[in-house]
Amino acid sequence: MGAQQVRDVFVDLYGAEPEGVWSAPGRVNLIGEHTDYNDGFVMPFALPHVTTAAVSRRTDGVLRLHSADVDGGVVELALDALAPGSDRNWTAYPAGVVWALRETGHTVTGADIHLSSTVPTGAGLSSSAALEVVVALALDDLYELGLKRWQLARLCQRAENVYVGAPTGIMDQTASACCQAGHALFLDTRDLSQKQIPFDLAAEGLRLLVVDTQVKHAHSGGEYGKRRAGCEKGAALLGVDALRDVPYEGLDEALARLGDEEEVRRLVRHIVTENHRVERVVSLLESGDTRAIGPVLTEGHASLRDDFRVSAPELDLVVDAALSAGALGARMTGGGFGGSAIVLVEATDVETVTKAVTEAFAAADFTAPRVFEAVPSAGARRVS
Ligand code: GLA
Repeated sequence: MGAQQVRDVFVDLYGAEPEGVWSAPGRVNLIGEHTDYNDGFVMPFALPHVTTAAVSRRTDGVLRLHSADVDGGVVELALDALAPGSDRNWTAYPAGVVWALRETGHTVTGADIHLSSTVPTGAGLSSSAALEVVVALALDDLYELGLKRWQLARLCQRAENVYVGAPTGIMDQTASACCQAGHALFLDTRDLSQKQIPFDLAAEGLRLLVVDTQVKHAHSGGEYGKRRAGCEKGAALLGVDALRDVPYEGLDEALARLGDEEEVRRLVRHIVTENHRVERVVSLLESGDTRAIGPVLTEGHASLRDDFRVSAPELDLVVDAALSAGALGARMTGGGFGGSAIVLVEATDVETVTKAVTEAFAAADFTAPRVFEAVPSAGARRVS
């Protein structure tokens, strides 16, 4: 839905023009998976898919929410009654942002919000972060809070961790808030320092395909939290603040110190090698050797499948079928247990690889995947 349509629906719902319209994108992560809650490196880029919000302020302590994508009418909430864990619906994401802003001492006296999204939900493409960030940016603008993009990302993460109750890291919100068109975002999740890395695949005759397996996932479920707890245990056993502090060169020694803690050893090995893969991808891209990132992406998948154990049969099939059909590299992206994979291909191989993946899914009796090309797009912004 375009900005004008979102405005028109807002007028129908609330009887007046909105004060403005904002949008925030979903993301794919190129490399650096499950590293963000280990103070490590990630490298996402924004998708052209966005959540759009038409918003006006209110002065009476009421939050009214409506989504074009969910059945049901306008939901009305009293700001004073917002409390973590009180809401299990989609409204917890925008309400959580308002709660986090107020809890941090910012004056927000209410809002009317209408939302519409083109980011697929449950596909590992950060529909939740897009929803949080668009609301945070709109309220920051309207209430003139003067927050920096990284501060908005932190607030949104707090909304998701505390209000919604999903123990996720900071990558998705930062990607949605800070990415730039034509670039991937090299982010150090320890201090949120960032570098925009030019990532113009089309100019090099390459394409990045996103394959949404249509297998839905959720991070409030137990497996994500278990991995996180396992990583924290690893850091504690090794006597470091976070697994980020285990250097790649010191990996063998660290693994030896973990003795027979087999599961923790696997988690540690993934995190340490994955941080190293992010650094390798950055230096390959900076030296213009884009095709050479393919095998690094594929190594990342093997590590997530065998060591971190967050893949799914559908994700493994995308990777195997794409590589057999000539892809340069492929891996699952996002939290895993379903969701999406990314595939790096020569522009001339898009059709062959897409066909191979689709046929492999049909042969395995899996639901047909949705395949689209991802172009690194703009981060959150005001659109009117
Ligand atoms: C989800 C979380 C992120 C990150 C990824 C895995 O997308 O929201 O914080 O942990 O999984 O890299």
